[in-house]
Amino acid sequence: MIDQTDTFKTPFVFIIFGGSSDNSYQKIYPALYDIAEKKLLPEKFAIIATGRRYTQSEFYDFFQHSITSDNRHHKHSVDTDFFKLLKDHIHFFPGDNTKLSFYKDLKIYIDKLDKNSDYGNRLFYLGLPQSIYPTVFKNLKKSSLHKSPNGWTRILIEKPIGSDLASAKRYDRLFTRIFKEEQIFRLDHYLGKETLENVLSFRFENNLFENLLNWKYLDHIQITAAEDFGIAKRGKFYDETGALKDVGQNHLLQMAALATMEKPKDESDMAIVKARTKLIKSLRAKPTDVVYGQYTKGAVNGQKAVSYLDEESVKKNSKTDTFFAIKAYVSNKRFHNIPIYIRAGKQLNAWITEISYVFKSKNVGENILTIRIQPNEGIALKILTKKPGYTKTLESTLMQFCYKHYFSGETFDAYEKLIQDAFVGKRTSFNDSLEVEAEWRFIDALSKNRTPVRYYEAGSWGPKEAFDLIEKDGRSWIEPYAAFCQI
Ligand code: BG6
Repeated sequence: MIDQTDTFKTPFVFIIFGGSSDNSYQKIYPALYDIAEKKLLPEKFAIIATGRRYTQSEFYDFFQHSITSDNRHHKHSVDTDFFKLLKDHIHFFPGDNTKLSFYKDLKIYIDKLDKNSDYGNRLFYLGLPQSIYPTVFKNLKKSSLHKSPNGWTRILIEKPIGSDLASAKRYDRLFTRIFKEEQIFRLDHYLGKETLENVLSFRFENNLFENLLNWKYLDHIQITAAEDFGIAKRGKFYDETGALKDVGQNHLLQMAALATMEKPKDESDMAIVKARTKLIKSLRAKPTDVVYGQYTKGAVNGQKAVSYLDEESVKKNSKTDTFFAIKAYVSNKRFHNIPIYIRAGKQLNAWITEISYVFKSKNVGENILTIRIQPNEGIALKILTKKPGYTKTLESTLMQFCYKHYFSGETFDAYEKLIQDAFVGKRTSFNDSLEVEAEWRFIDALSKNRTPVRYYEAGSWGPKEAFDLIEKDGRSWIEPYAAFCQI
């Protein structure tokens, strides 16, 4: 078992490729601040952000702004001492990462830091477009940056890896040519979400629910990842990727795996990754049971929203999906023949990510167990209750557990946990190559026979065809409860 406080003892250099990217701004710097604030940084460490967009002073403004401004996942006050600690240890190393000279110079820079401070271990974070990976890996090797002279070297690689099974395998060959599997940390940040990690504890540590969550008592399962915002400035990436590959191949499949996998043999990293992979391998869906959608103009949260085709860097005749809905099955014993309806999309009516187990009942929908991943994180059980009074009138009510009520103030961002895990070498919340391949096998089978893209108004819950998909089975999508953990 790895003790997370090990990081106190482990000096490191954390090298960020893509240090001026939106992802570093939104996720990496705020996560590093949170690690600092929890006093989990060792005495000796350095962070080197690389990028070509900024001058030194522009970079420090960007860095400061990323930590001090609120975003969806990082909304809390910033302590000046912890901020200063981080700022004092971060270096901006500008340059063009397509050139070998950049890597050679970076190596000299790191070696020099190392010589003065004896950091030893090196963790690289790759938050770059995939198309540049061949250049990066070739040059890491040519410059000998892939080896630390006195410590470990690890690499964190963002999803998606590849755009189908064949390209994922190609990328993997590239990674494993210079790194061993135990050095590679494939990052799907949903695996670092506290509320998603809790799904396994909830299912398997509460005997009551372990006994109820199976084919005998369930009618079906629903998984929703709805976003009430669009693609921002990511038009180029998004238009080449689409919702199914951007979040379906990874985040949504991981949610499905955690919601339905068998209990891992033990708590080791390997057993957990293996159990997830086994589940993903067993997922089945017919291509005709997939609905793709694309948003047209509308209004989201009272604000006008443009149509997807009018977003920056999107092709004018694009058929890219910004929404998908799937009806799938898993072939394990526990959930045999139980449909799993999965949907995700941009510019929908609300920002809500949740897993719902819908129980068989007189009228399906009376009893639902919902695990809300975000926001207003918690778990709620929908039950019928007699309304106080002289007559028997039943009302649908919620029994709920809310994180912010019970664990007030204790927040852990996904990236914070995953960066920490990579520092200590804990692999449970990372994908191995077989898991990524299993995800692509499932997606490839659907992509080969795509149904046409359907249109939905921004601010709605998706195209009509997504409703038909579930309603033809006599079921309906769950309207997220407004009252969920609104305390
Ligand atoms: C990213 C996708 O991986 O996850 C984005 O590329 C998506 O399109 C994001 O918005 C969602 O993450 P979170 O943590 O905000 O739910």
